[in-house]
Amino acid sequence: MNDAPAKSGPLLQAVDVEKSYHSKSQPVHVLSGASLEVQSGEFLGIVGASGSGKSTLLHIMGGLDRPGAGNVFFKGQNIFQQKNGFLEQFRNRHIGFVFQNFNLLPDFTALENTMFPGLIGNRDKKSVQEKAEELLGLLGLQDRLNHKPGELSGGETQRVALARSLVNQPDLVLADEPTGNLDSRASQHFMDLARKLNEETRQTFVIVTHNANIARSLDRVLQLADGRLNPIGKELIL
Ligand SMILES: Nc1ncnc2c1ncn2[C@@H]1O[C@H](COP(=O)(O)OP(=O)(O)O)[C@@H](O)[C@H]1O
Ligand SMILES: [Mg+2]
Repeated sequence: MNDAPAKSGPLLQAVDVEKSYHSKSQPVHVLSGASLEVQSGEFLGIVGASGSGKSTLLHIMGGLDRPGAGNVFFKGQNIFQQKNGFLEQFRNRHIGFVFQNFNLLPDFTALENTMFPGLIGNRDKKSVQEKAEELLGLLGLQDRLNHKPGELSGGETQRVALARSLVNQPDLVLADEPTGNLDSRASQHFMDLARKLNEETRQTFVIVTHNANIARSLDRVLQLADGRLNPIGKELIL
C-alpha cells in the first residue's frame, strides 16, 4: 500500500472520517472529516456533547462499523481495504472493547465472559483460562470468578468487561463511556486500574467520557464537535 504510513508511525490513524446516517427524513451528518492519531502507549480521551458522534467514531476506529468516506490505518494497514473476514479477525486480535452498559452475557460467569474473546479467537482453552484468571485477579475479582453478571455490582461488572477486553492482549482498548453507569467511587476505581495497566504494561487506551474529572485525568484529550476532532486544553473541559 503506497498511501499507508510507515510501520514506525502511529498505532492507529483515522484520516478524514465521514459518516452519515440516512433515516427516513434528512440524512444526519455525524462525522465530517474526523482525524486523529493514537500512539502506542497513550492514555487518550475523547469528549463531546451527547449525540456528537463519539460512539460512531469509536466503532469505526475499531472496525465495528464502516465510514462513509475516509480511512483508518492500523499499524499502517488500511483496515477497510482488506479481504473478507479481515475485520472480525482484526477486532479479535488487536482491539478490546469496553462499553457503557458492560455487554456481558448474563448466563455466563465472570470467568466465562472474560474467556469468551479468547475462545472465539480459537486460542488454546487452558492458556485463555490462565490469562482470564490472571486478569480477574489483577482487577481484584479473584473471589468472583464463578459469579454471573446479575450477582455482581456495577463496578465489578465493568471490571469483568475490562478483563474481557484485555484477554487477547489487544494493542488497543477502546472504551465507550466505561464509567457512565458507575457511581463516582466505582468510576475512580475503574480509572485507577486502567491507568495502572497503562503505566505498568503500556496498554494503549482510548476512553470516551463525558465526565470532566475523568477527562482531566487523561494524558491528552480531543473534543469531537461539528463532526471533527480538535485538541482541548484541560482548563476548557467542563
Ligand atoms: N444507527 C443509527 N441510525 C441513525 N442515526 C444514528 C445511528 N446511530 C447514531 N445515530 C445518530 O448519530 C448521532 C451520533 O450518535 P453517537 O455516535 O451515538 O453519539 P455520541 O456517542 O457522541 O452520543 C446521533 O444524533 C444519533 O442519533
Ligand atoms: Mg455514545
